[in-house]
Amino acid sequence: MFVTFEGIEGSGKSSVLRAVQKHLEETGREVLLTREPGGSRIGRELRKLLLDIESTDLTGPSELFLYLADRAQHVSTVIRPAVEAGKIVISDRYADSTVAYQGYGRGLDPKQLHSFNDVAVSGMWPDLTLLFDLPAEVGLGRAVSRNMQEQKCDTEGRFEAESLNFHNTVREGYLTLAALHRKRFRIVDASQPLEAVVADAIAIIEAKLAGDDSEAEAPDF
Ligand code: TYD
Repeated sequence: MFVTFEGIEGSGKSSVLRAVQKHLEETGREVLLTREPGGSRIGRELRKLLLDIESTDLTGPSELFLYLADRAQHVSTVIRPAVEAGKIVISDRYADSTVAYQGYGRGLDPKQLHSFNDVAVSGMWPDLTLLFDLPAEVGLGRAVSRNMQEQKCDTEGRFEAESLNFHNTVREGYLTLAALHRKRFRIVDASQPLEAVVADAIAIIEAKLAGDDSEAEAPDF
């Protein structure tokens, strides 16, 4: 099974991911945690370019194609082999990030991005996508304080330096995607305390593993 975690900065998805991994491993499943950008060897080089605060001269289309290159490499060298080996693969961000950030956030055409994504993922669309949703001002506040703690300085990442307006647009983009792909997406209220968010995420993944698709009545389109 292939699961992706999506959401704006500070939605807590990376902490939830570790807790979910622990739960799945304790219940006897083999799990591979990965992320974008930077889930493969080549991808780690691309990640440096993409997230460097100095990359101010990176054009919109170049940024897009670097994310897509990262994804294509990630799929063929990491995700597909692990899924084929029977592992549960969970990726912190994937194709929907491109539509939310480069599409809704930066103004590129979401439909066109969907076809680019189709090429990059080459059939490896997630079985399940969890959208960790919360207001942009709450998420950004968390992300900035985390950066200051971890890096012990007041610099922000390239995307965290974007305006609140940008992150609100990205959030709306994610909600639009979730409404368009109701079969694949589940929305988790990420403004709850971490334990509650983790419990919701585990319940959704367990239901999917048990083959319970009762919530997914609407067709994907
Ligand atoms: P990261 O430090 O991994 O942030 P987070 O903890 O929020 O996941 O940085 C990833 C950044 O890259 C994030 O700001 C979103 C952005 N991004 C895109 O703009 N497009 C994409 O296709 C992907 C995968 C990520």
